Amino acid sequence: MQNRYLDVAIETALEAGKILREEFARPPDIAYKGDADLVTQADRRSEQAIVARLSKYFPDHSISAEEGTGHKRSGEFHWHVDPLDGTTNFAHKYPCFSVSIALSQTLSQKETLLAGVVYNPIYNELFAAARGEGATLNGNKIAVSKVTTLATSLLCTGFPVHKRLANPNIHYYYDFTLRSHGVRRDGSAALDLACVAAGRFDGFWEFGLKPWDTAAGVLLVQEAGGSVSEFSGQPYTLGGPMVLATNSLIHEEMRKVALAISQRDPAEPLRAPL
Ligand code: IPD
Ligand code: CA
Ligand code: CA
Repeated sequence: MQNRYLDVAIETALEAGKILREEFARPPDIAYKGDADLVTQADRRSEQAIVARLSKYFPDHSISAEEGTGHKRSGEFHWHVDPLDGTTNFAHKYPCFSVSIALSQTLSQKETLLAGVVYNPIYNELFAAARGEGATLNGNKIAVSKVTTLATSLLCTGFPVHKRLANPNIHYYYDFTLRSHGVRRDGSAALDLACVAAGRFDGFWEFGLKPWDTAAGVLLVQEAGGSVSEFSGQPYTLGGPMVLATNSLIHEEMRKVALAISQRDPAEPLRAPL
């Protein structure tokens, strides 16, 4: 895979990963952004390094980064940066978190993902994808799973760290748990998507994710042969209300179940599906 954008994304993610490893070895320094939304020195140091490096290589590109140090430029190229996806895990010393970096290009108001990297610096797993060039894990090609039914699938999802009561996901979590081999909740949406791309999970859904949570992971899933949409079947756009990402084979089945749950009255008590 020879792609300058991807090469820079990889180099940058590895640098940020090194910072996260150093910070992980120290006692956590936690502040609250609201509700249970944590931020640490690691989020800030990682973002500073990423924004500095991307700006040095591509001064004309826009950068949206979660901790707010990005900048807007007038051109069509836009980096989406989560300097630490899985801050809650990081703060509790659970080694499941990542750096997520993706580049998109917007032409005639249509945004296309060009390159994406998700890096878990503790397991040293680097997931990378470039549009039309496939997806890799530590340089080896990856593909989505071949599981054909929801009943035999392993799924994952996530819950937000703010406005938690307004989030409907507990109903979906309950239903999908009873209809599958199980639903994992690992705490890093970027890694969840990367694991769908690598065939470890067969499907993932979540509500209210930001572009920096999903941009790299969505490209990974697509380049690994998976499907990504909203529950309605409309194409997923970055920052959309929900994302459904699967191995393609269980997409329709998951989508229909999700749609049916969305049509239920949320006040209705939980009951066994079917
Ligand atoms: C969070 C993680 C988590 C997801 C939350 C995100 P952060 O990102 O991706 O898995 O469930 O919705 O906010 O805050 O750790 O960067
Ligand atoms: Ca995130
Ligand atoms: Ca983050």
